[in-house]
Amino acid sequence: MTPGHEDETAAFTTKMIDILNKGALNLAVGIGYHSGLFEAMDTLREPATATAIAEHAGLSARYVREWLGIVGAGGIVEVSRGPGGKIRYRLPPAHGAVLTRRAGSANLGVYTQEIPILTECALAPVLDGFKTGQGVPYTRYPGFQAFMGELADAKHQRLLVDDFLPAVDGGRLLVRLHEGIGVCDLGCGQGLAAVLMARAFPQSRFIGIDISKEAISRARQTATEQGLTNVSFRVADAASPDQTSELSGRMDYVTAFDAIHDQQDPQGALAAVCRMLAEGGLFSMVDIAAHSDPIKNLDHPMAAFLYTVSLMHCMPVGLTNGGAGLGMMWGKERAEAMLRQAGFSQVDVLDIPNDSFNFHFQCRK
Ligand SMILES: C[S@@+](CC[C@H](N)C(=O)[O-])C[C@H]1O[C@@H](n2cnc3c(N)ncnc32)[C@H](O)[C@@H]1O
Repeated sequence: MTPGHEDETAAFTTKMIDILNKGALNLAVGIGYHSGLFEAMDTLREPATATAIAEHAGLSARYVREWLGIVGAGGIVEVSRGPGGKIRYRLPPAHGAVLTRRAGSANLGVYTQEIPILTECALAPVLDGFKTGQGVPYTRYPGFQAFMGELADAKHQRLLVDDFLPAVDGGRLLVRLHEGIGVCDLGCGQGLAAVLMARAFPQSRFIGIDISKEAISRARQTATEQGLTNVSFRVADAASPDQTSELSGRMDYVTAFDAIHDQQDPQGALAAVCRMLAEGGLFSMVDIAAHSDPIKNLDHPMAAFLYTVSLMHCMPVGLTNGGAGLGMMWGKERAEAMLRQAGFSQVDVLDIPNDSFNFHFQCRK
């Protein structure tokens, strides 16, 4: 046995125990977030018994007591002995500031649902994929699509019109949006970004494109409910030249929020964006802030989490039908190379105010 081997094994054993505890805690925190227990405890403020917390949340006291055992042991809630020896629990307000909806942009509680949902949707086909190399179709992820919609909602409502768009092209885009230009949101999902932009810039015309019929029907419904006449939606494969040909050269600005790396033909989709843009047009691709070289991601504070989400969703959906399967961690170097190959003459990789998860690839035709 080499010197230091036993110490290393002991240290790694400690690390593994920490992983078992934290993996379990992720699930328990996700349950607390989903069931409304954190919201209930946040409004209680004072230490309370398991029965009082369960009553306040409208949930089963026996389940809540077991759950409190986990989050108490995990340091998420404080545990103390009150009058009469009764055990009481309190969610510190500083924890509520990260775990409840009042956290707004600092809400990390919402992300604890991601791994459990993906496990439920795709553990079996992903395990099969290790043997077959096959992808997993979008249709396997109904629960995850709804969750992504919830995340996108929080992100776009908070950032898009007030923070993101004013920073594009040094503020010049905003002027043009107010004057009136043609804009396409590619991989628009349920259409929230296009709807928010259409509402903020009535002089401009917007089109949202997505391959999902369900997402587009939801997007149309939202636009109709809001009485918007300057936005339309279409079901199309972004990478198929036939399906986007009549937009050729007609768009002044194209956006793709988290919508390129999942695609089966991402290079084709980027080429389609380039074709859609008028001369001098701009493309904003917002995608995960990571490097293509895994060694350079070793000090990324969320690399293991993001690679896991990619393994369980982004990579397998992108591998479907023999697709590229880039995965969420394709990284900025590969993204830049693909954007240049698609025909963009200028590609700037910019940080996004109040969004440390993503880069803004600002590209000019
Ligand atoms: C992670 S979601 C992002 C949705 C939206 N942009 C947002 O910010 O919430 C990726 C979207 O890309 C769409 N998509 C995947 N492949 C596509 C393709 N080939 N053409 C058009 N849309 C596609 C999916 O249906 C999905 O709605």
